[in-house]
Amino acid sequence: MADQDCISARISSNCPPETQRLLTAAWAHDAATVRKLIDEPGKASCQDPQTGETPLHAAIRACGPPSEDDTPEDLEAARKTVYELFLWGAIWNDVDDHNETPGCVAHRLKRPELYGLCVDAGTRAELLFGVLDGYEELGSEGEYEDEEVEVEMENGDAAVGEDGDEAPQLVSMEENGQNGAAEGMEAAEEEKLDAPTFQPPIPEDPDVNSEIYLRSKLTYTDGKLVDNTGNGVMMAWETEIMRQSVDALLPGKEPGKRVLNIGFGMGIIDTMFADTKPSKHHIIEAHPEVLDHISSPESKFGTSWESAAPEPGAFKIYQGKWQEVCLQLLEEGEIYDAIYFDTFGEDYSQLRKFFTEFIPGLLDSDGIFGFFNGLGADRQICYDVYTKVSEMHLADAGLDVEWKNIDVDMKALAEAGKGEWEGVKRRYWTLDTYRLPICTFLG
Ligand SMILES: C[S@@+](CC[C@H](N)C(=O)[O-])C[C@H]1O[C@@H](n2cnc3c(N)ncnc32)[C@H](O)[C@@H]1O
Repeated sequence: MADQDCISARISSNCPPETQRLLTAAWAHDAATVRKLIDEPGKASCQDPQTGETPLHAAIRACGPPSEDDTPEDLEAARKTVYELFLWGAIWNDVDDHNETPGCVAHRLKRPELYGLCVDAGTRAELLFGVLDGYEELGSEGEYEDEEVEVEMENGDAAVGEDGDEAPQLVSMEENGQNGAAEGMEAAEEEKLDAPTFQPPIPEDPDVNSEIYLRSKLTYTDGKLVDNTGNGVMMAWETEIMRQSVDALLPGKEPGKRVLNIGFGMGIIDTMFADTKPSKHHIIEAHPEVLDHISSPESKFGTSWESAAPEPGAFKIYQGKWQEVCLQLLEEGEIYDAIYFDTFGEDYSQLRKFFTEFIPGLLDSDGIFGFFNGLGADRQICYDVYTKVSEMHLADAGLDVEWKNIDVDMKALAEAGKGEWEGVKRRYWTLDTYRLPICTFLG
């Protein structure tokens, strides 16, 4: 076992005795003692004040990587302990001092069964969060300061304990791989605490918010579109994903299809759609500077493109937010064979709103819908949780989804600030497999 994963490195000397007992029992996979020690809400997610170790981290980490010494009994004891902790409201996405969630530890240590329990718990928590309509609040720090309830919902947990141990950083998910962290309690509340609490790693950057993004200054440079704070809005490395998305949405690429694309960005996918010679090609874009770029003389999608349409209005840039433009499209009775959705600065609630409220009215009964699947893409467990969550919500909306795995060449994407990420604040993609969604109506 790597030094960093040893019990002595994980349970610090200044860990309060009660927390220490619980972490030790979890480490020993002593599910009965764990159950006995969790005698009030929130205890299942206590954290070592120095390492951020939670009982879930401890129970998973104690397994180490697979070895010849593993016995089925050991594995069963570990599984039972993790299960017990989730039963008592343990939080699936607390991070420790190495910025790892329990699921990240299970993934790194190649423990698929425990990883699966974490994914299931994350899925349950996020589904519950969705029922409570909480996605909107996930994004920005500070919003949480007066909203203990939001923190509770994020946790998928019943209550926040009085001793404040439940003030961890939480990994949250947004569109385009944007990832936010919920801060804990206010300083005033922390003063109430007599025990030291874990201070999670500072998030790499604050969240992107749609309103701020739509007012931001943008720069088109070779191979990327970035906002004025250095967020990558669109990058050329995604070209292969766009190409495969077009292949999936327009099988055979027959001419004469009716296409709707939401979010122009660098125009990569629209150029590919245009090459298939659609009979209708509508684009919705909200950012004024992207719209200026579209109408510039060097753009392929200016007025001459619009006037080259087979009939008036068939090739059209709709200026504004899709949330408003789509209402107009519905009213006008527009129907499409292929719809693609790829915006920026919006969280999952908006994607869900789009496919729940608009796809049924805008997509032909034999049509295909796709979206850029960057949800939680800076962490494997978040990506896996959101694959499940979106699959369930798509089914609720009457859609079946087939996921096509695409290898992502990570050579130039492996290190923050380097290669493709040069000049981009945040490495929003970290995974070597992209799951491309191909959605059709059920039945
Ligand atoms: C990631 S880029 C799209 C990239 C595009 N798929 C391509 O191939 O270049 C996202 C685009 O969505 C636009 N956008 C963001 N929010 C929007 C909204 N609510 N309505 C319409 N467009 C939006 C952004 O301005 C940006 O141009």
